[in-house]
Amino acid sequence: MELFAAIESRTSAARLTVPGPSAEHLERMLQAAARAPDHGRLRPWRFSVLDADARERFAEAAASAKRTAMPGLDAEQFAAERAKQLRAPTLVVAGCAVRRDNPKIPEIEQVLAVAAATQNFILAAHALGYGVMWKTGVAAYDPGVKAVAGLRPEDHIVAILHLGTRAG
Ligand SMILES: Cc1cc2nc3c(=O)[nH]c(=O)nc-3n(C[C@H](O)[C@H](O)[C@H](O)COP(=O)(O)O)c2cc1C
Repeated sequence: MELFAAIESRTSAARLTVPGPSAEHLERMLQAAARAPDHGRLRPWRFSVLDADARERFAEAAASAKRTAMPGLDAEQFAAERAKQLRAPTLVVAGCAVRRDNPKIPEIEQVLAVAAATQNFILAAHALGYGVMWKTGVAAYDPGVKAVAGLRPEDHIVAILHLGTRAG
């Protein structure tokens, strides 16, 4: 897909189904992400493509984060929160592993670089024919969820990317 056509036609995909992106297509999206502008070339982005086991742990941690935020959450609501994270065939977490050893590159600029990389990733996914939904919510700020994506508590989850084929 031509660049302007991709930019002008991208929208969030609320409903996703199989198939998710192939390994080859995921690699192209990750390569596109890595072309983002990045002050100081710190490469702060950490894109984690969750495998089946990590998806289960991620969903459990996300539902637990919701219960921490809403202590009244009952078992049914917990299960629904968990299931929400497992609806799309593919989950990718876009994290920012903050570097604090370079005072010239403030933390916010590192987060912005990851946001730019995330948009590259999304546009590449769209150009390759996939639907994407950028999500955050309380899960994105929870240390347990971050740990599943290989991030430290002081790092940031910039996006939880739900990917697949558009449904409906
Ligand atoms: C930082 C960020 C966080 C977002 N978090 C969520 C979210 O938690 N849930 C959600 O449904 N959409 C989320 N979105 C997607 C927006 O809701 C969506 O892009 C917006 O509604 C515009 O729709 P469009 O993408 O189809 O143009 C997020 C977008 C950004 C940039």
